[in-house]
Amino acid sequence: MQKDRGQWSSTLGFVLAAAGSAIGLGNIWRFPYVTGTNGGAAFVIIYLACVVFICLPFLLAELVLGRHTQRNPVGAIAAIKKGRAWTLVGGLGVFTGVCILSYYSVIAGWAFGYIFKTILAPAMPHADFASSPLIVLPLFAVFIVLTILVVVGGVRHGIERWAKVLMPVLLLLMVVLIIRGMTLPGAKQGLEFLFKPDFSAVNATVIMAALGHAFFSLSLGMGAIITYGSYLPKNVNLWVAGGSVALFDTLIALMAGLMIFPAVFATGRSPASGPPLVFEVLPAVFAEMPLGMVVAVVFFILLSIAALTSTVSLLEVVTSYFVDERRWTRTKSVWVVGAFCFVIGLPSALSQGASETLGGMSLFGNTSFLFIMDFIWGNLSLAIGALLLCIFVGWVWGIRSAGKELGQGSDLGPWAVRTWGFFIRWVCPVLIFLVLLNLFNVFGD
Ligand code: TRP
Repeated sequence: MQKDRGQWSSTLGFVLAAAGSAIGLGNIWRFPYVTGTNGGAAFVIIYLACVVFICLPFLLAELVLGRHTQRNPVGAIAAIKKGRAWTLVGGLGVFTGVCILSYYSVIAGWAFGYIFKTILAPAMPHADFASSPLIVLPLFAVFIVLTILVVVGGVRHGIERWAKVLMPVLLLLMVVLIIRGMTLPGAKQGLEFLFKPDFSAVNATVIMAALGHAFFSLSLGMGAIITYGSYLPKNVNLWVAGGSVALFDTLIALMAGLMIFPAVFATGRSPASGPPLVFEVLPAVFAEMPLGMVVAVVFFILLSIAALTSTVSLLEVVTSYFVDERRWTRTKSVWVVGAFCFVIGLPSALSQGASETLGGMSLFGNTSFLFIMDFIWGNLSLAIGALLLCIFVGWVWGIRSAGKELGQGSDLGPWAVRTWGFFIRWVCPVLIFLVLLNLFNVFGD
């Protein structure tokens, strides 16, 4: 093993770190806002189906590829098949990571800023907060620097230590907030929105949103799990490790739904208000609680940490690429990539009204730059990356070799590996392909 590479200390260490990557703003900020803009329960059901039938097998594929090659996404692919085209697939993953990190850190900066806003300016509307460059830009910068500092620390000491302690506390606090939300008058409508499907509103965009979000939430499609898998020892059971990550992540997303939607309706808001949704609704819930301010501060601290364990995984992928492939030192890669993310994240940071003077940073009418980045990189690009990786693992590398790696450390019979192989070769790529085609209106409206 090369210098500057690390290894997880145990299965539990890996599961918590990978769950730390998966669980983040995706569950607590993105899931509610995307569910809200895509009509509620029907979206949730399609999302759950995507998690089980597409993402779970695909998650195993990324783990297998990572553990087998012990490389970053680009190196992992090259270790199995040399060739320009396939290297580009890995490169797309790394680049997608940079782009997601750029706007994700903007939202993470909001979460971090809310710790102080709760105390200093509780009455300030979210729109005013998000549209002040003097507020959002420093927060964005601070968050990137925090991410950098953790990633410089390296795998075991940096990432793992944080994830282990703090995830359980977040879970506990969410339970408290769910109970508060559900006991608000008018909460029932929120539960109906979340659980009573109306399939008549489902269209190509909704299906794409559900599939893309499933990848996003599980940190799939750009190589994060390949990278995390590359630090796994051979005796770890990948089925158990991967299955637990998917289970935790999905559970937390549903809990976030329960935390937000009853409150959305109880406070008479529209579920479709887009990226600011959680930041507008939660303070209203806190206001209705005894010790609300304390709870709010603790909540936003934990949310920032959940976001940090995710930004860390994004930066880690890109870093491991420069460390493995370009022989940069860890420190240099982390700072250079971090700075680059800050620069390309500027339009997203300024897109929530903070750039009136710069033309509003909105494209296509009213759609904010941040929203567009989220759709292109946090949705489309992940699905495309996943499609290509399924083809790579299932057809180029081949199910026999990949299956052998999957079998190591597990005592499931050959049927399990065979079923997985069928999913990776046929079910996953065909379904993803159809969803993408559908998006381009190939099947009509
Ligand atoms: N999954 C994380 C979340 O839900 C975000 C994230 C981290 C991510 N790493 C990723 C998304 C890699 C896509 C790809 O907040």
